[in-house]
Amino acid sequence: MNNKFVPLIVILAILVSALYWVFGLPMVGNPEIPTTAEAIARGEYIYNAGGCAACHQIDDAEGPVGGYVIEVENPFPNTFYTPNITPDEETGIGGWTGKDFILAMKHGRSPSGGFYWPSFPYRTYQNMTDEDVLDLAAYMMVQPAIRSEVPEHELPAWQFDFLMAGWNILADFIEGDAPSISDDLQVQRGAYLARALGHCGECHTPRNELGMMMLAEEFSGSEIVSTEINPEGLSGWTRFDFVGFLQLGMTASFDFVGGEMADVIEHTSKLTEEDQEAYAAFFIRNGE
Ligand code: HEC
Ligand code: HEC
Repeated sequence: MNNKFVPLIVILAILVSALYWVFGLPMVGNPEIPTTAEAIARGEYIYNAGGCAACHQIDDAEGPVGGYVIEVENPFPNTFYTPNITPDEETGIGGWTGKDFILAMKHGRSPSGGFYWPSFPYRTYQNMTDEDVLDLAAYMMVQPAIRSEVPEHELPAWQFDFLMAGWNILADFIEGDAPSISDDLQVQRGAYLARALGHCGECHTPRNELGMMMLAEEFSGSEIVSTEINPEGLSGWTRFDFVGFLQLGMTASFDFVGGEMADVIEHTSKLTEEDQEAYAAFFIRNGE
């Protein structure tokens, strides 16, 4: 081979690996979805703690058949329709493998290699353990398959999903780190519930112009809800108030929350008391 082609080939090789790094599927192995009764029961609990029904199972639907409309103004006007996540072969997630679940929940990637939009809170669910994702899958895959077609998302014509490849890489750098917390086990459990499952930050943490969560300012208010629910904002609350809030939706000043927060209480009210207390230990860090 002529020597002058060598640099060209090297450059091409670098380019191809860069493209592969950006667009290729992350290596996540091919873990099995468990089938034991314990895994399915744990999965049901995780499904509730993750608040999945709030977006996928609406009104009187028999299961998570989707069709819930999410309207977003920023960064661009978009209308999303949540998909059917029952195991129906044609219109749902029938046939999904453990790998498909890990890629979707933790990397925002579809089985065909496409990219999900962050209206699906995968930037939060990426903090779940693989074990929890697989138990969740165990539960979801034994639910009744329901046929239900949902409309296509309404997005500007230029908004291609592969743009999310760059967005995800940028977000990894820009989102930053949430404030550190004590290594007390109860506080750690509360942080896992809030930051990996209950996706409290998706509505309560401010976002930048590109819609990325600014984690250093975790829970300090957003366009959706301005009230701070960080330790300063909740300084007048006791842990007891907070547990009661998760059960009934009543704040420390005796107001009942409505709208989307009422949907959140729908799932937090079903958690074990131990987990509600863990939430309280994480949010109310100034003691009892
Ligand atoms: C805030 C609303 C919201 C919540 C909460 C939510 N999702 Fe979704 N989910 C979406 C949207 C919107 C999409 C579609 C994303 C897209 O098309 O890019 C989606 C997509 C999915 C998909 C991909 C389905 C497919 O056909 O490709 C799965 C699986 C899924 N969600 C499971 C879950 C599970 C499990 C939970 C709870 C742990 C959950 N979702 C919670 C909004 C939500
Ligand atoms: C889908 C968006 C959404 C999610 C997710 C969400 N919240 Fe909220 N939250 C709201 C809205 C909107 C309000 C204001 C409701 C009202 O005033 O009626 C609110 C209000 C609150 C309040 C009351 C603040 C006050 O003093 O008035 C607390 C506390 C709170 N949320 C905690 C949480 C916790 C904990 C989680 C996670 C388990 C969570 N939120 C998840 C939207 C959300």
